[in-house]
Amino acid sequence: MAKSFIVTTVVENELVAQNTYRMRIACPELTQTFRPGQFCMIRKPGVNDPLLGRPFAIYDLWQDESGAGVDVMYLVVGKATAGFAELLPGQPIEIWGPLGNGFSLDSSVKHLIILAGGIGQTPFLTLTKEALSKTGDAAPKITLCYGARSKDAFAGLDDFKKLGIEMALTTVDGTTPDGFDCRQGFATDPMKEIFESEPADGLFVCACGPRPMLIAAQKLMNQYNVRGQMSLETPMACGLGICFTCVAKIQDDSGAWDYKRTCKEGPVFDAKRILWD
Ligand SMILES: Cc1cc2nc3c(=O)[nH]c(=O)nc-3n(C[C@H](O)[C@H](O)[C@H](O)COP(=O)(O)OP(=O)(O)OC[C@H]3O[C@@H](n4cnc5c(N)ncnc54)[C@H](O)[C@@H]3O)c2cc1C
Ligand code: FES
Repeated sequence: MAKSFIVTTVVENELVAQNTYRMRIACPELTQTFRPGQFCMIRKPGVNDPLLGRPFAIYDLWQDESGAGVDVMYLVVGKATAGFAELLPGQPIEIWGPLGNGFSLDSSVKHLIILAGGIGQTPFLTLTKEALSKTGDAAPKITLCYGARSKDAFAGLDDFKKLGIEMALTTVDGTTPDGFDCRQGFATDPMKEIFESEPADGLFVCACGPRPMLIAAQKLMNQYNVRGQMSLETPMACGLGICFTCVAKIQDDSGAWDYKRTCKEGPVFDAKRILWD
């Protein structure tokens, strides 16, 4: 699949939630072969610390009279993301991608449950749009189960609301974002309720978020026999399959496991095949 390395410009870079920015990047090349769940590597040019790019899900694609490209949504956690937060429209940025495998939904999915925790909603706007474009029997019902520490950490709620899907929001501290229903707890709570009320064979979970959430989700999925895929956010150095810093333990059909590169064979893996230690 064609990948592009581009030195381009920031179009917008706006604070959208607590320590969370949405950056619009001009890069029509990246939009051409993109699949939901794929990611890109981004680097601020002329900076030596950090020297390497960082991986980010492609949150959305954009196109208008000025051009086309991708939006990424990032949480400021360290040096690279703090540097991105200083970028102004028109300033240069390096981006390469689309990278990784992406999600794959088959036509047997009747109810797609999107499970997101923290900044883990970022691969799912494009997946939701793709699922909504299916017609007839292939069109699944979609529920977003999205959990955050607090109401201020939710990012992109209006984007999902506009798509008209079911939304089940949870916060750990019990706060509720304006204009939305939300309850205290974890994103896995509403997911479990769906498992308890619908036949498992039509359900499919696509999950991304903190490791404890993914581990809890995997346990529930195994218990209720629900299929799904998880996108892993392991640290990465090259993003191109060369350095092996990003490996995860993945089981094969025989039950044996091997290290798989999250950047190359992932970041999306069959949920039941992921080993956590
Ligand atoms: C495939 C993939 C897709 C990703 N998509 C996104 C995305 O869409 N949006 C996004 O914000 N992030 C995403 N991430 C995570 C993102 O790559 C890291 O947050 C980023 O590399 C941090 O770079 P930094 O230099 O700012 O911080 P670093 O210096 O690398 O880290 C600073 C500190 O923060 C901790 N840390 C690192 N990452 C996280 C994290 N995600 N959450 C909490 N603490 C963390 C580190 O352990 C360290 O202590 C993705 C990761 C992968 C592998
Ligand atoms: S980040 Fe280098 S092999 Fe995956």
